[in-house]
Amino acid sequence: MKLPQAASVGFILAIGAVVWSLSKPLRNASAGAAQTSVEAAMSANGYAPKWWKEAVVYQVYPRSFKDSNGDGIGDLKGITSELDYIEGLGVEVIWLSPHYDSPNADNGYDIRDYRKVMTEFGTMADFDALLKGIKQRHMKLILDLVVNHTSDEHKWFVESRKSKDNPYRNYYIWRPGKDGREPNNWVSFFSGSAWKLDPATNEYYLHLFAEKQPDLNWDNPKVRQEVYDLMKFWLDKGVDGFRMDVIPFISKNQSFPDFPQDFHGEPQYVYAMGPHLHEYLQEMNREVLSKYDVMTVGEAFGVTPQQTPSLVDERRQELNMIFNFDAVRLNRQGRQWRDWTLPELKAIYTRLDHETDVHSWNTVFLSNHDNPRLVSAFGDDSERYRAASAKVLATMLLTLRGTPFIYQGDELGMTNYPFSKIEEFDDIEVKNGWKAEVLSNKVSAADYIANLRKTSRDNARTPMQWDSSPNGGFTTGPKAWLVVNPNYIDINARQELADNDSVYAYYRRMNDLRKKTRALIYGDYHDLDPQNPKVFAYTRTLGKEKYLVVLNFSEDAISYSLPAGLKAGQLAISNFGKAEEQTSGLNLKGWEARVYQN
Ligand code: NOJ
Repeated sequence: MKLPQAASVGFILAIGAVVWSLSKPLRNASAGAAQTSVEAAMSANGYAPKWWKEAVVYQVYPRSFKDSNGDGIGDLKGITSELDYIEGLGVEVIWLSPHYDSPNADNGYDIRDYRKVMTEFGTMADFDALLKGIKQRHMKLILDLVVNHTSDEHKWFVESRKSKDNPYRNYYIWRPGKDGREPNNWVSFFSGSAWKLDPATNEYYLHLFAEKQPDLNWDNPKVRQEVYDLMKFWLDKGVDGFRMDVIPFISKNQSFPDFPQDFHGEPQYVYAMGPHLHEYLQEMNREVLSKYDVMTVGEAFGVTPQQTPSLVDERRQELNMIFNFDAVRLNRQGRQWRDWTLPELKAIYTRLDHETDVHSWNTVFLSNHDNPRLVSAFGDDSERYRAASAKVLATMLLTLRGTPFIYQGDELGMTNYPFSKIEEFDDIEVKNGWKAEVLSNKVSAADYIANLRKTSRDNARTPMQWDSSPNGGFTTGPKAWLVVNPNYIDINARQELADNDSVYAYYRRMNDLRKKTRALIYGDYHDLDPQNPKVFAYTRTLGKEKYLVVLNFSEDAISYSLPAGLKAGQLAISNFGKAEEQTSGLNLKGWEARVYQN
């Protein structure tokens, strides 16, 4: 990968002049230009060029990536051993899901010690070796910053719960009961009340997630300072930024009213965007982030597209970008699967695009460790169309405007697991839901499992499929920590690396195309046909450079007419190889993707 070169002062001034002549405003031209090439800055259509806008991010879920010591659990040495594989995909940044010491109530999202590596994953020396290997390959590493809550085994909480006058009491959120019940009717994302009575002091503590994940009290300046210190600890090691777990939840309305009347069973919209959120993010930026050249992406569950600029507009100095959940959760009604339509998906991308101007930046993603597999949820994972539809999705993710995030295994077209019984799951959300819904006779076991087959987070957490040896080559030990998808015999990295027509090979080609095509990064986005139920067709335009993307989201062959005046130019990439010559009518095969340079 080639990151933009630093520009000289003279060049910076030249860029400044160019920038002023652009019709759209461009903030902080010289600061942006200092990290980018002249050419990059001049072609940016009003956007300040940044390495994190041009990068493609690959998410590694360490527990499931690669096991190096045969204990059935992925580890840091395993990741280091596969860095060539990740680099070969053509990505620039790795996002590592939590690797910190944790009792694993929620697979590492419950941190016991922020400065220690999880024993099962290895040692700090293993982390340093991983970081070194990443830098040697000119890639970057961002870590998961999980600071809305800690583990209940973190030393702060162990102290906090001891007595009401403990110096750490105010690190968490404690309240007396109300009329012999919880302080309010808030619920946990993992079922039941968000409050837990602690017998030691007879008060409740708040936990928006599991009981073992008490929420930190960000209104306490000492807590904020602790967080800034631990951020600096990792940044000083040379990491390149953070993905920030449920960051819009950190500030709470501490009068804790009950859910409002119009609450539609979606607590995230009540918990997000609390009264001091912007103030705390700006403070974090001032005290920490502004001192490093890093990237930040906030997991913004409960944030609407309209609210997005308030978090990512660069003039506000908060975050670089956020994950908006509208697209990835389009297939969900609460926890229940719902069928989605292509016009709905297109409308979301168009709305996100409209809500963010040149001062803000988006992400593009449709999967991660909390969602089902990309090809199963948004493509067609049947034998016939799995590879083609995975490539259609890759084309879309890598040609929409925003930093793309690829989740491990999606580059192979890995699919959902055929779950059939509760014992096959690991996820705390599934297990708590089983108790709350099935064991209390609200939902039948069969319906519960059927829904999970489509929606469960464990679909994404089954081990990476490296080859066709037992356990998909994930571990040399007898058993992986979670079920391995039996289709590893046919779907695995070794096979795909050897096949020029594989999903992996296509991702690599798409990444190459995106890297060298500034219009696909900074260009204006225009949806040509919002209501078409099967075809997603859009243009990306940057000055004279124009790209046309046409994606068939169905198995049907479609004769597609481009809008008057638009003709397909030169084919830049297609998932079916060479397509017909330039024409205004395109004969698309089922699940065909084409990108034209016009
Ligand atoms: C979001 C994380 O992505 C998810 O895995 C976790 O369970 C919750 N936040 C709580 O940390």
